[in-house]
Amino acid sequence: MGSGLDRVAICRRRCRFARVSSLPTASDSESPPLSLGVLVSGNGSNLQAILDATGRGELNARVQLVLSNKPEVRALARARAAGVPARCISHKDYPSREAFDAALVEALREARVEWVVLAGFMRLLTPVFLDAFPWRIVNIHPALLPAFPGVHAQRQALEYGVKLTGCTVHLVDTGTDTGPILGQRAVAVRAEDDEASLSARISKEEHRLLVDVLAAIARGSLTVEPGGAAARPRVALELP
Ligand code: GAR
Repeated sequence: MGSGLDRVAICRRRCRFARVSSLPTASDSESPPLSLGVLVSGNGSNLQAILDATGRGELNARVQLVLSNKPEVRALARARAAGVPARCISHKDYPSREAFDAALVEALREARVEWVVLAGFMRLLTPVFLDAFPWRIVNIHPALLPAFPGVHAQRQALEYGVKLTGCTVHLVDTGTDTGPILGQRAVAVRAEDDEASLSARISKEEHRLLVDVLAAIARGSLTVEPGGAAARPRVALELP
């Protein structure tokens, strides 16, 4: 493995071989916007950061569809306020995780989504979903992975007593918050921090990091080198 032909670039439309250069080119800047689907479960501040960045022209992307597994969450209202199609597909309406994932995939495909962003989406995805968007699912997590995966990452960091935590954007694989890391930003923990104050500072960094990562993907600068059956793929992405 690891030969030139194994090197796969995850570009904006489909995988192709050996795209190593990440410098923006004329064709990159003229490319159509990245077609995004955003999965949410709650507040939607990361979704808002994406919508705001596209509106300001800082992110060459279009949010085609927002899906929530919970009804009436603020994220759905944010999407509708921005004129983006948004709907709830409740996991409670499906007999299995796989059936729920298949419904998500169908909706995203109908909306012609190329890349999926998990922006506070609090459900584990099965191979039914992962195989539909291979290495095209991005997750934001409020810790410096591999530290503090799963839920309540900020609480975990405070309980452990770390002095530095932060946020991570990574590609999604079959594990919980284990996929290849695309970018991280550090946040210092203060002596007086509680979960709310720490979460608020991490949240600000999340918004910048997520937009930076998506903008870099939109420029076609992400490469993913498959690692073989057992190994992790290696990724390269130039961030500002
Ligand atoms: C964010 O902090 C995100 O990192 C976290 O949920 C929050 C959603 O905020 N995701 C996870 O913990 C996933 N393991 P938002 O709804 O305001 O974007």
